[in-house]
Amino acid sequence: MKFFIDSANIDDIRALADLGIVDGITSNPTLIAQTGRPFFKVMEEICALIQGPVSAEVTAIEAEQMVQEGLVLHKIAPNIVIKVPSTPQGIKACKMLHDQGIKVNVTLCFSALQALIAAKAGATFISPFIGRLDDINQDGMALIDDIVQIYGNYPEYSTEILAASIRHPYHVLLAAKAGADIITVPPKILWQLFQHPLTDKGLSQFLDDWKKTGQSIL
Ligand code: E4P
Repeated sequence: MKFFIDSANIDDIRALADLGIVDGITSNPTLIAQTGRPFFKVMEEICALIQGPVSAEVTAIEAEQMVQEGLVLHKIAPNIVIKVPSTPQGIKACKMLHDQGIKVNVTLCFSALQALIAAKAGATFISPFIGRLDDINQDGMALIDDIVQIYGNYPEYSTEILAASIRHPYHVLLAAKAGADIITVPPKILWQLFQHPLTDKGLSQFLDDWKKTGQSIL
């Protein structure tokens, strides 16, 4: 499973990239707004830090404008992926960008049929939003199950399932069990994945006992 960070905060991204487990980044207009910084500058900095796919979202509504914005964003760095919404115009833009050899992440996916159409339009990634479905009392993880099953029926589709809108570590566990190709995780939740009280307790005991031996490895 690939791990993307769902953030535009350069300090948060740098701290996690340092661990060597970050495969890519997703951003959206809300995450950019939270930084309070210029969009292009932020994306340039992220792309300089992360070698894998970095999603940057268009803000146009019509396909032709989305493609124009996508072409501008694509110039930021070779690893930029253009994020378009799961709308008819977004799917049209996805196909147009795909035909130009540009990678596309179809976002705001809330149904398996939207995911099917995105794959047909050549999306590199489909982003089902788990947490936002859970928020309205629907089973977000069932959407991942459905997309995994549907994409499995059509090997000609190469679209990767990027589980998004992740709210807690249990979402990560369930998405991995369901077979999502990628998960995009807010920094705070990614740090939580490391935590277990028995790890802390066990390490503390090992270090105490090692100290008693008076030895050192280096
Ligand atoms: C994905 O690409 C989105 O940026 C993100 O996962 C949305 O998450 P939210 O529902 O917590 O805003």
